Amino acid sequence: MICADDRRAYWTALGWPCRRLAPDTGFYLVDDTHGLTLRNAAARDHGRGLRLDLGDAEIARRIASGRRSPLAQAIGLRRHREPRLLDTTCGLGRDSATLAALGARVTALERHPVLHALLDDALTRARAEPGGPQWLANWQTLVHADAIRWLEARPAAPAFDVIYIDPMFAAPRRKAAPQKALAWLNALVGIDIDADRLLAAACSRAGRQVVVKQHARAQPLALPDRQVRAKAVRFDIYLTGG
Ligand SMILES: C[S@@+](CC[C@H](N)C(=O)[O-])C[C@H]1O[C@@H](n2cnc3c(N)ncnc32)[C@H](O)[C@@H]1O
Repeated sequence: MICADDRRAYWTALGWPCRRLAPDTGFYLVDDTHGLTLRNAAARDHGRGLRLDLGDAEIARRIASGRRSPLAQAIGLRRHREPRLLDTTCGLGRDSATLAALGARVTALERHPVLHALLDDALTRARAEPGGPQWLANWQTLVHADAIRWLEARPAAPAFDVIYIDPMFAAPRRKAAPQKALAWLNALVGIDIDADRLLAAACSRAGRQVVVKQHARAQPLALPDRQVRAKAVRFDIYLTGG
């Protein structure tokens, strides 16, 4: 990893020591004037790398789908326009950004140190950009934490109306190769085998509901109260309000 001095100690402590030269194998981070980039030594020319950009076309497309999109419907954004939302699995930040742009007040958690670092860098760059999107103000916090422990340590009184969970599941068989960003996410993070524990912790702390994103044909983690279906994915909804 090649990085600026002020970030070096933090990443070293997280097990990603700084390197002046790229390694022969595996993923590594490069921190330069363009921002923080994840590269893969196994890719040809180490690939162009993966740098998160909250203004990218994929996020813009999702925001343009508006409150009628399956994600927005599952969160309940047509009735509740500014919910306090906890995204427990921030990943590439696409759902957090989309929901913040559609009005939710977002707190986001990510436990993988590299993904958290990439997200933190993307948020910092977006906030420093003159004339950046106004919705950034709705993305209130990004925390590097395991959501199960983070939720269990919180007081029982709910601080969030909706808790959102989008864990890494085993990918279904598919004809097309996944997008590079998703393939790299898969290789870096692997499968989240504790999603059922996360659902239990979320159900004990959500004011109104918990929403779990799943592949369209996957088994639900538990019997949901409602479902919103899209072409490739499904949102399972667990009502927690009295
Ligand atoms: C499928 S990705 C999420 C994609 C995200 N919804 C987006 O729009 O880019 C799952 C992410 O959740 C994170 N994750 C899974 N379980 C977690 C937990 N208990 N606490 C914090 N992060 C978690 C993983 O590290 C991974 O980055």
